[in-house]
Amino acid sequence: MLLLRRFPTFTLTLFSCILLCESNTLKARQTVRNFPDGFLFGTATASYQIEGGWNADGKSENIWDHMTHNNPCVTDDCLNGDVADDSYNLYKRDVEMARELGLDFYRFSISWSRVLPTSFPDKMNEAGVQYYNNLINELLKYNIEPMVTIYHWDLPQKLQEMSGWTNPHIVDWFSDYSRVLFEQFGDRVKYWITLNEPREICYQGYGSVTMAPQLNIQGTAEYMCAKNLLVAHAKAYHIYDKEFRATQGGTIGITISASWMEPETEDHAEAAEVMRQFEWGQYAHPIFSKAGDFPPVMKERIAAKSAAQGFQRSRLPEFTAEEVEMVRGSSDFFGLNHYSSVIVFKNESSLTYDVPSYYDDIEANGYQPSDWSGAASSWLKDVPWGFYKLLTAIRENYDNPVVFITENGYSTYGGLEDEDRITYYRGYLNAMLDAMEDGSDVRVYTAWSLMDNFEWMRGYTERFGLYEVDYESPERTRTPRKSAFVYKEIVRTRALDFNYEPNTTIMTIDEGH
Ligand code: BGC
Repeated sequence: MLLLRRFPTFTLTLFSCILLCESNTLKARQTVRNFPDGFLFGTATASYQIEGGWNADGKSENIWDHMTHNNPCVTDDCLNGDVADDSYNLYKRDVEMARELGLDFYRFSISWSRVLPTSFPDKMNEAGVQYYNNLINELLKYNIEPMVTIYHWDLPQKLQEMSGWTNPHIVDWFSDYSRVLFEQFGDRVKYWITLNEPREICYQGYGSVTMAPQLNIQGTAEYMCAKNLLVAHAKAYHIYDKEFRATQGGTIGITISASWMEPETEDHAEAAEVMRQFEWGQYAHPIFSKAGDFPPVMKERIAAKSAAQGFQRSRLPEFTAEEVEMVRGSSDFFGLNHYSSVIVFKNESSLTYDVPSYYDDIEANGYQPSDWSGAASSWLKDVPWGFYKLLTAIRENYDNPVVFITENGYSTYGGLEDEDRITYYRGYLNAMLDAMEDGSDVRVYTAWSLMDNFEWMRGYTERFGLYEVDYESPERTRTPRKSAFVYKEIVRTRALDFNYEPNTTIMTIDEGH
């Protein structure tokens, strides 16, 4: 996700509206559109956002425990993930919901500090391993494939004290941890995602204050993080590929977050492209392009600015030739998290940025016009045509990779009648089908999220769930929203029917699950 708090907001001019409205009309809607055979549907969650049990049965502290315990009101509601949805105890209900929806798979993440409390493989926490075994076995009992994210932002605090993702040793720390997961769970897990959203880990956590560990070391730390993270991902990929794939037969890749960046006018086309290369090309180009390495525009720009700013070398670390080769091609699929779009305009004025900084390197800003309808999250506007354009760009830039949509979803402030969420899902699935008709090789779609959960700095104020969670009840009662019934019908019929009106009185378990 792209945090727009950083961007100035402007009102859309009539002129640009005319341009946008004309260029971005999606194809006419058919009432019912089918998904291809073999297409997979799921929902996603992440460990810190749902599990709770923050210190249960030997789990150690991670960076989100640490930050929220030391500075409780860092989140909007001064709440944390200590209990969250209590999935550590209620995982059977989570699987029951996946059965109700008729899902093909369920994407969840593993908490590093729950499995390896020292951060290293010297001591395994049996209770933590048992928890994930229970969840995986419960899913498989009902023919729901587990899709496991190895890392979704909850770094062990101890590793953060050793500089976390800016320390090159994290390549070994992460790949050792990954190997433990392949050994423990790989006999049953066939879908692996190494890392969730490098941009949010590196930019928001190291170059800004909007995610733990809030380092805010601009223009340097986020690039060090990016390089180490890409090499760590690649090393874990190659371990799986060489040591486990033959016997376990699974697939493994990375998940990148990407917004669509639309130029304000033709004059800003280059600025929009530069922003795309920084915001997601930074992570996609090294893995999915033919040449590998960071995007040329990043390398040139940061090197030139660094020299002019008096640095001895580029603030963007270099990959060795061996690392370029190791990272290139290190993903079986392009895992894509997509939520929204922005309008981009060039802005070279160094007065508006901290120097050095990531956005000073980009020299462009983004905004969302005031007439774009939006979710509870300030950055999340309903822009389905942006999804179509993004999928088209991925197809064209990276030789039509296999794409797994690993997250897409919409936030509200709660309530079971979530018409806006339904409109969003239908619009985005429609745009995705348009891109697929044009040739995009999308094979998987994942709704974020199965249920409401701890929405990071927003606490529990913004709700992304197909199921509502009652945080007042000790049972954390989960109740299906209208969107859950609509998604269930999409999964059941393998089709998108714009006119379907669900009967929301009773949610039953889907046949076959
Ligand atoms: C993250 C989720 C988050 C969602 C909504 C994604 O960036 O992977 O953890 O809850 O967006 O903000």
